[in-house]
Amino acid sequence: MNLRVIGAFLVALLTFAVTPAYSQDDGQRASTGGAQTLEDILKRQKGLNVDESFRRDNLGDPSKAAPLSGDLGTLGGISKSDMYRGIRYSETDVKVSNTGPAAKILVQDGGMSWLLTRQGGIQSYAAYGAGGIIALLVLFYFIRGRMTIEGGPSGNTIERFKPIERFGHWCLAGSFIMLAITGLLLLFGRSVLIPIFGHEANSTIATFSIWVHNNIAWVFMASLVLIFVMWVAHNIPNKLDLVWLAKGGGIIGNAHPSAKKFNAGQKIIFWMTILLGASVSMSGLSLLFPFEIPMFAKTFGMINTIFPAMGLPTELLPHEEMQLAHLWHAIVATTMIIAIIAHIYIGSVGMEGAFDAMGSGHVDLEWARQHHDLWVEEEEAKSSRGGLS
Ligand code: HEM
Repeated sequence: MNLRVIGAFLVALLTFAVTPAYSQDDGQRASTGGAQTLEDILKRQKGLNVDESFRRDNLGDPSKAAPLSGDLGTLGGISKSDMYRGIRYSETDVKVSNTGPAAKILVQDGGMSWLLTRQGGIQSYAAYGAGGIIALLVLFYFIRGRMTIEGGPSGNTIERFKPIERFGHWCLAGSFIMLAITGLLLLFGRSVLIPIFGHEANSTIATFSIWVHNNIAWVFMASLVLIFVMWVAHNIPNKLDLVWLAKGGGIIGNAHPSAKKFNAGQKIIFWMTILLGASVSMSGLSLLFPFEIPMFAKTFGMINTIFPAMGLPTELLPHEEMQLAHLWHAIVATTMIIAIIAHIYIGSVGMEGAFDAMGSGHVDLEWARQHHDLWVEEEEAKSSRGGLS
C-alpha cells in the first residue's frame, strides 16, 4: 500500500517535472508559432493587461515572401492569420466600396470590454446607486422626519419663482424624468426586461424608449440653457456658502443659516445639473450623430497636458470614440439620477412648504425667512423702493 502511494507520488512528481512551464518566454511563443500562451490567457481572465505586441507586430514579412508560384505567394508573404491580425490592429491598407469614417475598420475588439463594462459595472452602479440613495432617504425620513416651518406658516406669501422660471424648471424636470426612465429601460433591457417579459416585449419597449429618448433630449437641452441663463447670477459661490455648509445647512438641529435666493446646497444642485447636464448632452449628441462628433481623443489630449502622468490615449478609432461616449453618457446620467432623487425628496415630502415654490410660485413668508432670510430682505427692500416684488 505504502509502495503504491510512493509510486503515485513519484509519477506525479515526474509528470510536473517534464511538463513544460507555461511561460511567456520567446522560446515558448516561437514553439506555438507566435500564438497565445497559457499565461496570456490566465492574465486576460484576471482582467490584467496583456502585452499584445506579439500579435500586433506579427503581420508577416513580405521580404521573405514565397515566389508567386509557391504557397501563399499571391499574398506577398502574408498568411491569412497575418492578414487578419493586420486588419484587427488597423495595420492593413483596407480598401472598401462604402465611405464614412468607420468604413475601413473591419475588426474592432474593444467592443467586448465596452459591452462588459455596460452590462457589469454600469448596471451595478445604477442599481446600487439609485437603490442606495432611496434607502438612505427613507432612513433619513424616519430618523429626522419632515423639515417643518418652525412656529407654523404665517399665512402671508411671497413670490419665489416667476412663471417663466417654473416653466423652465418643469420642462427640465419633466424631460429629465422621461430621459431617465427610458434610459434605464434601455440599460436594463437585456438583463431585466428580456428574462421577465421576453424578447418581443423588450423590442417594443426599446423601440419606444429610444424614440422618446432621442426626441425629448432636445427639450432637456433647451431648458438647461434657459435655467442657466435665469439662475446663474444667483448661483455664484460666496463666503456665505461656507458658513451654510459648516452649519450643515440646518438639516440637523434647528439652525437656519443665512442664505440669499439659493443656499449652498441648492448651488451644488444647480452646478451639478448644469455641468453634468452639459456633459450628458454633449455625449448624447455624439451618440445621436454617429462618428460625426468625436470628442474623447481631444479631451484626453487636454487632460494629458494638465496631468501628464495620466497618459490617456489620444489616438482613438471611430468606434472607440462611440464606445467611450456611450459609457460616459451612462455614467454621468446615472450620477445625475442619484443626485436628483435627493433633490426631488427635499423639494417635495422632505421639507414643508418647499414644493409651493415650484407649484404656485409663492411660498409662505415664514418659510422664506427661515431658509432664505437675506433674499427676503432684498425682495422687501425692492418692493419698498417700488420695484419688482
Ligand atoms: C418631481 C420632481 C421635482 C420636484 C418636486 C422639484 C422641486 C423643486 C423645487 C421645489 C425647487 C425650488 C426650491 C426653492 O424654493 O428654492 C426646485 C429647484 C430646482 N430644481 Fe427641481 N424638482 C424636481 C425635479 C428636478 C429635476 C429633474 C431637475 C434637474 C434635472 C431639477 C433641477 C432643479 C434646479 C437646478 C433647481 C434650482 C436649485 C435648487 O433649488 O436646488 N429639479 N426643484
